[in-house]
Amino acid sequence: MAEPWLIAVLAVAGAVGIAPERQAQLEHMVVQDCGSCHGLTMKGGLGRPITPEALAGRDPQTLAAIILDGVPGTAMPPWRPLLTEAEALWIAEYLLKEKTE
Ligand code: HEC
Repeated sequence: MAEPWLIAVLAVAGAVGIAPERQAQLEHMVVQDCGSCHGLTMKGGLGRPITPEALAGRDPQTLAAIILDGVPGTAMPPWRPLLTEAEALWIAEYLLKEKTE
């Protein structure tokens, strides 16, 4: 049985496994590609808002699955061809994190 703290540790370990250069690319992708539907500040457009407030309380694993496989029947496309599971989880945690700018 995985304890919640263990899941948190594994999630952090997953994020650490992504090179800083790749993290910068992913961040760029979120603004450019995700932003084209969700808005440059993630406050929504064609897609719903994916700000930390809008996603508060959501499970990063669930969000990573949505990012990887999209939402069938909606404009949300699957990103699996472009992202690994660890990268999708990194983006999910990035979306959940309060940005400081
Ligand atoms: C072509 C438009 C489009 C692009 C590009 C797009 N999305 Fe979406 N996304 C949507 C739509 C539309 C929905 C809402 C689907 C629904 O009605 O449930 C959605 C839903 C989501 C959700 C679920 C939100 C929730 O509250 O359940 C997440 C998370 C998400 N998108 C993340 C991303 C990320 C990360 C990217 C970039 C890698 C991205 N999206 C790119 C259109 C897009």
